[in-house]
Amino acid sequence: MRFEEYRQIFETAPDPIFIADSMQPKGCLIDVNQKMRALTGYTKEELLEMGLADLFPKESHDTIRKVFKGQVRGEIKEAQDLPICKKNGEIVYVNVSVNIIERDEERLVFGILRDVTEKRQLEELRSDFLHMVIHDTRGPLCTIQLAADTLWHQLKEIVGSEHKKILEMMNKNAQVLIDLTNDLLDLSKIEAGMFKLDIKKIKPKEYLDEILEEMLLLAEHKNISLDISLPEKPPLIKADPLKLHQIFNNLIGNAIKFTPAGGGIRITVTPKKGFVQFEVQDTGCGIPRKEQKTIFNKYHQFLTKKDKAIKGTGLGLAISKLLIEAHGGKIWVKSVPGKGSSFIFTLPKEPALTNS
Ligand SMILES: Nc1ncnc2c1ncn2[C@@H]1O[C@H](COP(=O)(O)OP(=O)(O)OP(=O)(O)O)[C@@H](O)[C@H]1O
Ligand SMILES: [Mg+2]
Repeated sequence: MRFEEYRQIFETAPDPIFIADSMQPKGCLIDVNQKMRALTGYTKEELLEMGLADLFPKESHDTIRKVFKGQVRGEIKEAQDLPICKKNGEIVYVNVSVNIIERDEERLVFGILRDVTEKRQLEELRSDFLHMVIHDTRGPLCTIQLAADTLWHQLKEIVGSEHKKILEMMNKNAQVLIDLTNDLLDLSKIEAGMFKLDIKKIKPKEYLDEILEEMLLLAEHKNISLDISLPEKPPLIKADPLKLHQIFNNLIGNAIKFTPAGGGIRITVTPKKGFVQFEVQDTGCGIPRKEQKTIFNKYHQFLTKKDKAIKGTGLGLAISKLLIEAHGGKIWVKSVPGKGSSFIFTLPKEPALTNS
């Protein structure tokens, strides 16, 4: 094919394409096609005066650099949902995939963009709608559960076992749905950054004793031991007590759920330099190695046939991770299938004071 024909393909390609010189400061643009001009609103002459750094806002420069480096090492080739400032100040979102062409002294970046602004807007719309539906479902559900609970208390002495069972079933299932709506609402609030941490100083001994008291009933019911190991002088924890409670409830709740009768759970608090480390260790079924990477994703569950009786939505760990990260901490898992799991998380000694 002749040069003019290649040029024609470049110029009329359905996606925005640019070529930049990565040896030049700001990643100077040296060619752009028609779609690139349409996307940004700049003329060719204007774009060739600019660098990539001018198109992407400062917050994205790190990602852009990583994409370039990754491509050289053959790792990352694509970055998603990067904002671009158009000439008229409007922001559009793009996925960027790059190729590096090395030639003599030159190092050219060949990039193809895909405009995902509309897709993002639709996602947002869908998520807002879902949020509204879930939110509006919770009220009537609470009423149903309250009604079932009241009936159960008023009638339990007089109705027959058949009716008792029905009332119990109504109550239990309404609670399952309320828990689910609460989890989904929590998740969308955290994801949208619509919450603030209310950081307090917490004495770990008293705080954990209180949490364990609630959990002990569940554990004893399954004949599982539950204990805490604290250092002699436990450090004060600075965290949002309600959010931390939610994190422990999920981690200990999981440990109880996935540990067979006769097993044990241990919670350890260890002060480290600049942060406090917490560990919830169980002697349960463990997690296969390939699942360990995705376990903190939303709705991630892996259930073998014999686990089918275990209930849950697969949201607990995703929520816990977001809450821990909002504090400036990290969470990870160590597990040996068949032997047990350890969920370890850290909280900085001086956590973030606002939302994530
Ligand atoms: N301690 C554990 N031992 C073994 N598997 C675990 C443990 N904790 C979590 N898992 C696995 O990770 C999955 C996701 O956990 P997560 O807490 O997010 O959801 P869930 O407990 O199934 O439901 P939910 O917390 O929303 O009620 C679980 O379904 C289970 O397969
Ligand atoms: Mg859970």
